[in-house]
Amino acid sequence: MSVPSDSQRMEKIVSLCKRRGFIFQSSEIYGGLNGLWDYGPLGVELKRNLKNYWWRVMVHERDDVVGMDGSILMNRAVWKASGHEDTFTDPMVDCRSCKARLRADQIVEKKGAKQCPVCGGKDLTEPRSFNLMFKTYVGATEDESSVTYLRPETAQAIFAQFKNVLDVSRKKLPFGIAQIGKAFRNEINPRNFTFRSREFEQMELEYFCRAEEGIKLLEYWKEERLKFYGNIGIARDKLHVLTVPDEERAFYSKGTYDIEYDFPFGRQELEGVAYRTDYDLSQHQKASGKSLEYFDEETKQKFLPHVVEPSAGVDRTVLALICEAYSEDQAPDEKGKMETRVVLRFHPRLAPIKCGVFPLLKNNEQLVAKAKQIADLLRPHMFVFYDEGGAIGRRYRRQDEIGTPFGITVDFETLGEKDSALCDTVTVRERDSMKQERVAIKDLANLLVAQIS
Ligand code: GAP
Repeated sequence: MSVPSDSQRMEKIVSLCKRRGFIFQSSEIYGGLNGLWDYGPLGVELKRNLKNYWWRVMVHERDDVVGMDGSILMNRAVWKASGHEDTFTDPMVDCRSCKARLRADQIVEKKGAKQCPVCGGKDLTEPRSFNLMFKTYVGATEDESSVTYLRPETAQAIFAQFKNVLDVSRKKLPFGIAQIGKAFRNEINPRNFTFRSREFEQMELEYFCRAEEGIKLLEYWKEERLKFYGNIGIARDKLHVLTVPDEERAFYSKGTYDIEYDFPFGRQELEGVAYRTDYDLSQHQKASGKSLEYFDEETKQKFLPHVVEPSAGVDRTVLALICEAYSEDQAPDEKGKMETRVVLRFHPRLAPIKCGVFPLLKNNEQLVAKAKQIADLLRPHMFVFYDEGGAIGRRYRRQDEIGTPFGITVDFETLGEKDSALCDTVTVRERDSMKQERVAIKDLANLLVAQIS
């Protein structure tokens, strides 16, 4: 079997995502809108499983983190104070020949001359700053007094609410505030499927600490986040930690790591882990005139905490999960002839559907009734898909292709027709090995729950 090239692999992934209902182009029936995507029935499950697992690990399993859910629109003053209104920009260049709008870092240089990567033209404008925030108006009047922006990151709501959350949660340093939510950036060139989108979701933690703990906690969170990616099934050798060099780091950051993944289109950032010092809180304290200081009861001192921020992209991680899971192998068809099998090898914890339940034959009332009973038995514990259509091998393949880790088949043994010892047992097929074992129906829920949680 020939191994597909990286670009062929990416094409196959994009096409599978559409064909099986993971990801569709937004507003597709109207020709789409660049950089915007919709998640279909399977994509939404995968995304939810990822967000739920992040929340479980980052909030519920810890004693030192609480959550919040901020609004997408905030007072414009937030974006002035954070620096986004003045500096959240990308340098943009126009090609006068083909009218392409390009990010300055996409301009290619050949024999010392700058060229448009689209048409090869050399007639380019000088780079100028383009603010990535989407501007909007709040209320009925569209003038300067009603301007604000769709948030370009979730983090600022956490800083703006720091004092309220501190007061109600009564946490002692170090402690964190976590949030998952939408962010919007008017990217000049959205590309690589969902990788660079104009609307996306972030999973961010702001972990507040004393200044002297900052560097140590930066290391700690980098390691925790690497563990997280391992626990969702991303191979360690495809993850890389880039130490962002001084000249590329925000001026207030004392250290930033990018966690990168080897996508088929190249090594790209999944998450940033940044030590942002007390910059954000001090900016908001200054601009709002409200104290955001922390009072240390032991030393009786007041000070602004520093912060370490692991900031991950939901959509990029979903894309990494799909790229990591996509595989092709050889498996026998109904007649024993080898054929190519497409399998999404998702970690069971992330898989959109946890198990398929199949009656061996759809025209046997007893098999069908038993299979439906089993599906109902499992539904309170997991997302189950009942399927009675087509040959059993085809039904397995359909589930393999969307990454369902377990297939449960109800056959004549289940009904006790062949061997009474096998009555009320089913076969459980594991997706990757395709191995089957017989399991008592009463043990099914426990067996599967242990593997998907
Ligand atoms: N609060 C810090 C912050 O927003 P960032 O590096 O600009 O930092 C964090 O963004 C993460 O958000 C990125 O690592 C990436 O996963 C995701 N992200 C940023 N821009 C994105 C885009 N245009 N499309 C999809 N995900 C994006």
